[in-house]
Amino acid sequence: MSGYVDLHCHLLPGVDDGARTPADALEMARALVDLGVSTVAVSPHARAGCAPVEVCVERLAALRGSLAEAGVPLTLELGAENALVEDGFLEGLGTPAARPVHRGPHLLVELPYSAPVPALPTLVFQMMRKGVVPLLAHPERCLELQRPGRAAEVVALGARLQLDLGALSGRYGPVARRTARTLLDAGLYAVAATDLHAPAGARRWLERALAELRACAGDAAVERLFRDVPARVLAGETVEMPEAGRVDGGTL
Ligand SMILES: [Fe+2]
Repeated sequence: MSGYVDLHCHLLPGVDDGARTPADALEMARALVDLGVSTVAVSPHARAGCAPVEVCVERLAALRGSLAEAGVPLTLELGAENALVEDGFLEGLGTPAARPVHRGPHLLVELPYSAPVPALPTLVFQMMRKGVVPLLAHPERCLELQRPGRAAEVVALGARLQLDLGALSGRYGPVARRTARTLLDAGLYAVAATDLHAPAGARRWLERALAELRACAGDAAVERLFRDVPARVLAGETVEMPEAGRVDGGTL
C-alpha cells in the first residue's frame, strides 16, 4: 500500500522560508518518510521575494537526485503555495504564473493570517469560474476563515480546505487548534498536510500531530485526508465534499 501524500510542504531548499539548505531538506524528507509519507508535492511560496518557478524546477531536480543518492524513498512533485492577495494573482490564473498542485484544477492558495478578506466568497467564485479549484491552506490559522460560517460558505462555493496537522495538535495556539477541531468535526476538510518548514523537532511534532488526527477522527479519516484524497488531487481529479452539505452556516 502506498504511503501518505503531503500536498503542502516547504521542502525545496533556499527558495522561501522553508528548508534553508540541502541538508535541511534531507533531514525533513527523512522525518516525513518515517511518518509514513511516500509522496510530497513541494509547495514553495509563489509570491514576491520568493524564487521563480524556474529556480524551483532546478532545485526539485537536485533534491530528487540527493534523495536517490541517500536512499530516501520519497517521490517529489512540484506544487506551490499561491498568495491570494498578491498583485496579479487573479489575472494570472490559467497561466504559469499561478502554479497548480501538480496537475488538474487544484491550486494551493494561502490567505493572510490576520487581515480580513471580506471579498473571499467573490474571489472563490471568480476562481471557480476560471476552472480553478482553490485548495485553501491552513484555514484554521486565517482570521477570515475563523469567522462563523465562513469556512462552510466557501466550501459550498467549491473551495476545498487543507487541514494543517500542526494546528490540530496546538502548534499554532488555542484558537487555531479549536478551529481545526471544529472544521474537522464538521467534515469540512478535503485533505490534511504538514506545511513543514524546518527540520528542528519535525519528527516529534509530526508524529504527535498525526496521532492527534487519528485520535480525533479515526483511522479511516487519516487515510482519506492524508492519502486517498491528496493522491486524487495530484492525479488531477475533482474532489466532491458530500459531508459538507450538512453544514450550512450555523456556528461554523
Ligand atoms: Fe506553507
